[in-house]
Amino acid sequence: MKLLLDTANLEDIRYFNTYYPIVGVTTNPTILSKEGGDVLKLLRSIREIIGSERQLHVQVTESTYEKIVEEAEAIVAFLGKNTFVKIPATDEGLRAVQTLSAKGYGITVTAVLTAAQALLASNAGAAYVAPYVSRLENICADGVGTVADIAEIFAISGTTTQILAASFKTAKEVLDVAAVGCHTATVGSDVMKKLLQHPTTDTSVAGFASDWKTAFGEKTLLECLKK
Ligand code: G3P
Repeated sequence: MKLLLDTANLEDIRYFNTYYPIVGVTTNPTILSKEGGDVLKLLRSIREIIGSERQLHVQVTESTYEKIVEEAEAIVAFLGKNTFVKIPATDEGLRAVQTLSAKGYGITVTAVLTAAQALLASNAGAAYVAPYVSRLENICADGVGTVADIAEIFAISGTTTQILAASFKTAKEVLDVAAVGCHTATVGSDVMKKLLQHPTTDTSVAGFASDWKTAFGEKTLLECLKK
């Protein structure tokens, strides 16, 4: 399962883009609003940091068919290749997904809460559907189970639409969707960090360093090899 970063914070994007194997960045109006300022400059900066080969998902703010189509085309014209337009799973949105997909735009249908919405998005030609895992789990619904249902439906139909699971509050939810066949997941900075962190990894690394020094002194293996 591939991972994307769910933030518009430039410092975090720079960090994770350097150290973690992310394939892109996802945003939405709420995520952009947390950073504030000049939104075009912000989006342009994200594109500059991740380069043209990684995915950048940007959500429309218009809500009617004609305006969604116009806005989607303007977003892609502004941010270039590998830009995916996020469109919410509404009637107007679904109509726009069909038009834009037929024209070759990469569309991510977002705010997906049911497998039925995912099925419709797939039939409309979406490249991705984004089920909101934690928002479901938080209302005692089965977020991971919904992703599993979508994965099964997509596998049976043979659609090219992929699942881009979103809205994670815990690292375990990320692993759980990976285990039920989710293709990609977008994860906030805190959860991304938690996917790697482990105190026993830290104590193990400290133990290796201390044992090395006790046996071989201050020189690293690289320094010995270069001699
Ligand atoms: O991509 C946006 C989605 O992840 C929503 O996340 O944390 O607002 O439920 P959240």
